Amino acid sequence: MPDPQPRKSKQAPKVERAVARVVDAVTQPGGTEEHTVRLVLEAGHWEEYDPFLMLAEDWFVPGTFGDHPHRGIETVTFVLEGELQHADNKGGKGVLGPGDAQWMTAGQGIIHREEPHGPRVHTLQLWINLPATKKMTEPRYQDLRHADMPVREEPGARLRVFSGVSGGVAAKTKNHVPITMIDIRLEAGASVVQDIPARHQAFLYVIEGSGRFGRDATPAREAQVVWFSRVETDAPSEIALQAGEGLRAVFWAGPPIREPVAARGPFVMNTDAEIRQAFTDYREGRF
Ligand code: CO
Repeated sequence: MPDPQPRKSKQAPKVERAVARVVDAVTQPGGTEEHTVRLVLEAGHWEEYDPFLMLAEDWFVPGTFGDHPHRGIETVTFVLEGELQHADNKGGKGVLGPGDAQWMTAGQGIIHREEPHGPRVHTLQLWINLPATKKMTEPRYQDLRHADMPVREEPGARLRVFSGVSGGVAAKTKNHVPITMIDIRLEAGASVVQDIPARHQAFLYVIEGSGRFGRDATPAREAQVVWFSRVETDAPSEIALQAGEGLRAVFWAGPPIREPVAARGPFVMNTDAEIRQAFTDYREGRF
């Protein structure tokens, strides 16, 4: 059978991504006035979500996330409502407002606290894995103010680029793993296409409204996660995003790391021995 669309050049054709699955974020039982959690990406699906580890939507009051350590990962905290203040044992601190994000590289170890600046705050926190070569890197913070982030504007669409590139608009955010993070707002009926390498894992979380996604215009709504199909090719790929009555979503993508994951509490390493070492180092004040 002849190819209906012969290639014009030697460049691999773009892969149009389909939706692999749509998953409901799970609100944890036992949620209280003090702390409610919706698990967007549940821990334990290491291979399936690689390089992403977990994503939680939290509503919390002061005292919920007091001093605690991390090692071997990056955490990206995105403020949806209220203000978040953070401080760590390396001298990093700040207050973030709605639409701002904090990109923390825990690397070899950091101890921090995350508190509402006010009575209550509503956040999304994503844990991103670091490859073995970067797990013991120097810790760092990047406070990413929404007002400072580059914006891609299309008819009915505002895409604020926190990391990576959208339609030629690039963020200056430093990455150990090339992660794309975009705060997407589409007016009713508006549509946009996001380019991403076909190999990259990609998903979005619908914060408000609804839309249709991917090659088959698969529907999803608020509090659902949309995972896109991935293809093992060097070709570029594109992801079609279309609003229903209006859409706010956060989009993330990144290359799989493909390393063993040993995770316990706030530490994510490659082996159990490294996890034991992390607990020892923390206990002995080496963070
Ligand atoms: Co933390």
